[in-house]
Amino acid sequence: MQNSQADARHTEQIEAHGLKALRLRASGSEALVYLHGGQVASFRTAEHGELLWVSERAVYAPGKAIRGGIPLCFPWFGAHGTEPAFPAHGFARTSEFRFEGSELRGNVVVAELSLESTRETAPWFPHTFAARLRVSVGPELCVAFEVENTGATDFDYEVALHTYLGVSDVRQVSASGLEGASYDDKVSAEHGSVQGAEPLVFIGETDRVYDSSSRVVVTDPGRRRRTVVDKTSSRSTVVWNPWTAKAQRMADFGDEEWPSMLCVEAANVSPHGIHLTPQSRHTTTTIVSAETL
Ligand code: BG6
Repeated sequence: MQNSQADARHTEQIEAHGLKALRLRASGSEALVYLHGGQVASFRTAEHGELLWVSERAVYAPGKAIRGGIPLCFPWFGAHGTEPAFPAHGFARTSEFRFEGSELRGNVVVAELSLESTRETAPWFPHTFAARLRVSVGPELCVAFEVENTGATDFDYEVALHTYLGVSDVRQVSASGLEGASYDDKVSAEHGSVQGAEPLVFIGETDRVYDSSSRVVVTDPGRRRRTVVDKTSSRSTVVWNPWTAKAQRMADFGDEEWPSMLCVEAANVSPHGIHLTPQSRHTTTTIVSAETL
């Protein structure tokens, strides 16, 4: 795909909020992808409109993570395991990706972005890697994040495709697909809880890391749609809504915005981090689509 580019109807290189970005269009769908963080910030289909959420208070600046869309958490998730001063969720979401090219495959446009280890990333993550992000836009959105170990020694990493879904009101939606899965609850600090047989509903701050490879379906009667977050090669699913108090503590998150979003994240996080031997690679993928209710 290197140096190729689907024609301007399908791929446009633009500037948005002062940052370099791509506008991808195919099958009546459209996505916005920032090179900053390789971050998908919008995906709309002709039938369902916008499926993702971005805060009105999001900050678009080098060194800052954009609040919304699909930030890439890599090479660790949450706080760093041993170095509390290292950036939360790793450095990928604040790194500049390179646009490698795009092509039309049937009714889908596929853009490829890349990120490699550098002298700047070494103090945080002393390993040699080449990462490729493939964003496919068509009737559904597919985001595939591949990491290759290009060095001479093994390493481990965590990854999350931290998808912010737009919902009518998180208190009115339910999420199914996690029934029976065990999870760590970051709000109550309990480990190994088990999700019951009913779909998950939201009645307060929610921050859970599920052991689950299943797709999650968010049923949203207010929007008359189901949003489906499917995935491959992902053994963890993170579900997050900050609710009132945490939203107030975040400078880039409006105090009243929390009802309109829900994060459902395809991830591989501890104890399901990825181990890569030299020259091996792994791809974590999420596929976001919608159905009419
Ligand atoms: C979620 C985590 O995935 O991301 C939460 O589980 C965290 O604990 C949230 O608060 C947002 O993180 P950040 O670094 O973007 O504020």
